[in-house]
Amino acid sequence: MCGIVGYIGNAQCFPILIKGLHRLEYRGYDSAGVAILNDNNQLNIYKSRGKVEDLEHFCESKDVEGTIGIAHTRWATHGEPNDVNAHPHCSSHGDLALVHNGTIENYNVLKKALIEHGCEFKSETDTEVLVQLIEYIKENNKCTLIEAVTEALEQVVGAYAIAVIDRNTPDTIIAARKSSPLVIGIGDDATYLASDATPIIDYTDKVVYLNDDEIAIIKKGEPLQVINADKEPSNIDIKTLKLSVSQLEKGGYPHFMLKEIYEQVMTLEDCIRGRVYNNSIVLSGVNENSEAFKSAHRIIIVACGTSWHAGLIGKRLIQDIARVPVEVEYASEFRYSNPVITPNDIVIAISQSGETADTLAAISLAKEKGAFVYGVCNVVGSSIARATDSGTYIHVGPEIGVASTKAFTGQVTVLAMLALAIGQLRGTVSTDTLVRTTSAIEMLPALIKETLKLDKDIEKLSRTYTYVHNFLYLGRGYNFPSALEGALKLKEISYIHAEGYPAAEMKHGPIALIDHELPTVVIAPMDDLHDKIISNIRQVKARGGSVIAIVNKGDKTIKSIADFTLEIPAVPECLSPIIASIPLQLLAYHIAVKKGCNVDMPRNLAKSVTVE
Ligand code: F6R
Repeated sequence: MCGIVGYIGNAQCFPILIKGLHRLEYRGYDSAGVAILNDNNQLNIYKSRGKVEDLEHFCESKDVEGTIGIAHTRWATHGEPNDVNAHPHCSSHGDLALVHNGTIENYNVLKKALIEHGCEFKSETDTEVLVQLIEYIKENNKCTLIEAVTEALEQVVGAYAIAVIDRNTPDTIIAARKSSPLVIGIGDDATYLASDATPIIDYTDKVVYLNDDEIAIIKKGEPLQVINADKEPSNIDIKTLKLSVSQLEKGGYPHFMLKEIYEQVMTLEDCIRGRVYNNSIVLSGVNENSEAFKSAHRIIIVACGTSWHAGLIGKRLIQDIARVPVEVEYASEFRYSNPVITPNDIVIAISQSGETADTLAAISLAKEKGAFVYGVCNVVGSSIARATDSGTYIHVGPEIGVASTKAFTGQVTVLAMLALAIGQLRGTVSTDTLVRTTSAIEMLPALIKETLKLDKDIEKLSRTYTYVHNFLYLGRGYNFPSALEGALKLKEISYIHAEGYPAAEMKHGPIALIDHELPTVVIAPMDDLHDKIISNIRQVKARGGSVIAIVNKGDKTIKSIADFTLEIPAVPECLSPIIASIPLQLLAYHIAVKKGCNVDMPRNLAKSVTVE
């Protein structure tokens, strides 16, 4: 959470910083701010509660001249979202400004000590402690900015990506990271820094991903220097970005979420490309680690949110196809559960952003205990992609809408391919299953295109449900996680309470909720449990509930009982959650739009959860 941007060069930095903040707004939009050093060595800091556009309005009549600056968009952790708690934070003597993404866990102890030494604090944030500490060390030890930053970071417990500027060294930005991402862009006559590469791509495709405990010294007109925890120079590994500006724009759609729902035709093509070959699966990450996959006694999947739902489907896929026992854990629970992990276990970490703090912590724990860790990530070069031993990218392109859509279908598709690849290695998958499933995987983009034709009907249907307060989602087998995911999509963007349940569990409690005011969405493709789910639908109808059923084309039985049916094309059961997710995403989207909600930036949420 929180996004940081920095610029040092010859151009005016304000427009570059603002554009960068807009790109990072998915990481938090409680407040935004900039700090700019101008040619007269004046440090101007402007901050405002709310979104980046509020900051832009606020700065309209301000002096924003300057070629060195840092900026921040905030997802509040310490202190409410207001102007004072907004970043950048300034030191007591007004020389330093700092932006921060992460949390300083020992900030209270440090704050107390600094107050005893006469520091005065303006905000309630943990970040202000860091900038005051750096100034205190710099003045007390009469040392340079880099020495003060290094010493301050040694005293800090927690996670951070920071950027600091100092009126006394107006040609320098110091940046550092521990557990929060930071990318440095190397231009011809300028250097950029940001929480991810999206603010940088307009200016350069050459980037350096900072590693944990590294500090970057970015000086105007000089090559980048990076030092590691031992204060030794680090090797600077310049990577070339494979990202285009058009991927970061709405492309004529009213919202990123709708664009990303429609993009799934193309993103699944990208996800599958080169991986299905002659009715078999080729995943380099699996082939290169074939011994680990052949000998694994157990697989543990760790993830959060939507990625955890994909993990639940992955469990079924891997167990059915590769016959390896699989457990699925919330990363946030797993990391504190003293789990039994052995070197014979494989831990699969699933994450769109590749930056989720809990998933990263689960990975380090698994590695400490000797497990082989495999990543299923979207963001290339992200912290999780780099922390894992090997992995498979889902390759669905930047996902900007806060509600995950195309990443979910990409994750499930990769997990299906992973299950088949492991099954091939272990000899557990029959030729018939391999041929049927790989052919269906290749058909997915076309089938998604067909399913998207439901959009107009769903838009009409959504009008009926705009003012409903609660929803129930039911599914069985492979589609129980679809029910969880459908409910999550609705609640996060429309603020309507929604619960996902295994359909058969309904009678053990939730059935008490059913009345004419509670609509139930049932995901009911023609699978082995079809007859059973028909009974569940009858149970809802018998109690006056209305039912929206997602069914396969030609399902006359459910059509005759449900209030509304949305027909999706048939695929093998194990791939049905991919197709079923399309109407679920569209239903949530249209209801939220009708309610006037900001679907791309729902309240209280952020796309990348880099704090606990
Ligand atoms: C929901 C959503 C979140 C994320 C979760 C994990 O639409 O996007 O629940 O799935 O925060 O994020 P990643 O996948 O980036 O680790």
